[in-house]
Amino acid sequence: MAEHFGTGTDRLSSTPTPVHYTRTAVSLHWLMAALIVTLLCLGWTMTAMAISPLKVRFYNWHKWLGMTVLALVVARSLWRLTHRPPALLPMPAWQSVSAHALHAFLYLMMFVQPLTGWIYSNYAGYPIVYLGLLRLPNLVSRNRDMAKVWVGYHHIVAWLLLAAIAMHALAALKHHLVDRDDTLRRMLRFRSIRRGEGQT
Ligand code: HEM
Ligand code: HEM
Repeated sequence: MAEHFGTGTDRLSSTPTPVHYTRTAVSLHWLMAALIVTLLCLGWTMTAMAISPLKVRFYNWHKWLGMTVLALVVARSLWRLTHRPPALLPMPAWQSVSAHALHAFLYLMMFVQPLTGWIYSNYAGYPIVYLGLLRLPNLVSRNRDMAKVWVGYHHIVAWLLLAAIAMHALAALKHHLVDRDDTLRRMLRFRSIRRGEGQT
């Protein structure tokens, strides 16, 4: 446990500053990234399909995976609030401000996108039955006009999310390939890569 922390201290308190992400943070990051990319691909594939039993199955899988993202982002946010991440590596101020803003935006979108899907489905008259087993409460009652509005929100947020993910991934690759720093490596490993440099 002690090896999670470096020797530095937080500017505002005497709490030691962590030097790497926890295993839980790394696992949740990549599990959720995989789920979200799958959901984007599945969403655009299923809506383009002609009506068929497979299309209906894809819609169900999409809803179940999307609700899984919602559950995971609740857990991830609680973890994040109780386990401070390492400080960003040294970089120009505009980059660290943009990185923090983009991370906050990604967290927000991970809530907003499943919620718009849930609300749209309920407005369209479909309750969510998670994995075909657990019926979730309806957030709103059936309303065709509102369904049209909310499916629009779901489509727009999908594009916003894709744009944010693309910028985020490009920034990570730029740190790795151009700046050659440890930004990407520390999100890929369960333990600090700076052993032997007094940071364990
Ligand atoms: C759906 C896709 C993704 C989402 C929603 C996402 C979201 C996030 C969030 C919210 C953080 C901040 C972590 C925290 O402080 O709790 C983060 C960190 C990070 N992500 Fe992603 N991410 C995604 C995909 C990717 C991909 C594809 C890459 C790499 C190519 C990547 C690389 C990183 C790295 C390197 C960090 C750590 C940044 C640092 O410590 O300075 N992410 N991600
Ligand atoms: C992070 C989670 C999610 C992502 C990234 C996502 C992404 C998408 C995308 C890209 C589309 C296709 C949009 C288009 O045709 O332009 C879509 C459609 C759809 N999504 Fe999601 N979605 C998520 C969660 C959910 C959830 C939780 C539900 C419901 C419980 C849901 C229900 C739907 C439905 C019903 C459609 C079809 C809309 C139509 O027929 O036009 N989604 N989603």
